[in-house]
Amino acid sequence: MKKNKQLSAFLIGLALLFASVIPAHAEELDKLTGKKFAQLARGGVLYDNWFEELGVKVDKTHPSYPSAGKEKGSVTWRCKECHGWDYKGKSGAYSSGSHYTGIVGIRAYANQAPEEVMKILKNDTHSFGSMIPEDSLEALALFVAYGQTDMDLYIDRASKKSIGDPVNGGRIFLATCIKCHNEDGKAINFKDEKNPEYLGTVAKKNPWETLHNIRWGHPGSQMISLLFLGLKEQLDVLAFCQTLPEK
Ligand code: HEC
Ligand code: HEC
Repeated sequence: MKKNKQLSAFLIGLALLFASVIPAHAEELDKLTGKKFAQLARGGVLYDNWFEELGVKVDKTHPSYPSAGKEKGSVTWRCKECHGWDYKGKSGAYSSGSHYTGIVGIRAYANQAPEEVMKILKNDTHSFGSMIPEDSLEALALFVAYGQTDMDLYIDRASKKSIGDPVNGGRIFLATCIKCHNEDGKAINFKDEKNPEYLGTVAKKNPWETLHNIRWGHPGSQMISLLFLGLKEQLDVLAFCQTLPEK
């Protein structure tokens, strides 16, 4: 009997720990079923690179991209370029460096009505209304409202380490990701022959981008999304990727 009590105390403890890792808006996410869930899943990929996913050509620099910024051309049309991989803009990982724009993040619109986000995407700053079809704008709005997470809770800003468990992450990685990335994460080189960057390199250098890709997949590719898993498992996969070789 005593053992049973200890066990249930342990299980409650575990549940509480787990609950503290999962943000409140996960409940909203859970409410989305069928078509809405599919649309949300697409929203995350569109946030990464909507024009690649939609096959739209953009070349000039976005009119709202600040002249002080160091980027130019099509990349300045990606949501992540102005608002960051951690969705925190100037208060996040893009608070300095070549991607600094001084633009706010999108965190304030987490859990807000997707309709309000739609209005922002069509405003004069963004002018996406004429470029992105209505259903894709809706997908983006669902992502902003219910898909984003506060990454600082799970990835240490200074060490860039995921709080996830690499052992459990390995089980998921070795059953899914290796099909394309290989066991060592080196099947795809994300940079060039001279300075190769593999999954291990990227996961350590930019864990925020890697977590986004784990959750949503990669635009313009066959890469799967792990959105059907909980955030905890996604963080475990990130932790495993951070153990992969960089060279
Ligand atoms: C070229 C830079 C740029 C790009 C690209 C961009 N935005 Fe913005 N965004 C801004 C600026 C500047 C603001 C600040 C307020 C304004 O004028 O709308 C903003 C504000 C926002 C806000 C409101 C944030 C707040 O707290 O007021 C949301 C939500 C948002 N953008 C979502 C997106 C999404 C989704 C995408 C991609 C489809 C995107 N943005 C692409 C520049 C950009
Ligand atoms: C069906 C093949 C496939 C599967 C399965 C797959 N990926 Fe990918 N992944 C790709 C392709 C293709 C790219 C994009 C390569 C490019 O365009 O540079 C990519 C890109 C990435 C990136 C972006 C790196 C960067 O800097 O651009 C990350 C991170 C990533 N994959 C992680 C994973 C993880 C983790 C898993 C397992 C959950 C996984 N992938 C499963 C094919 C796959």
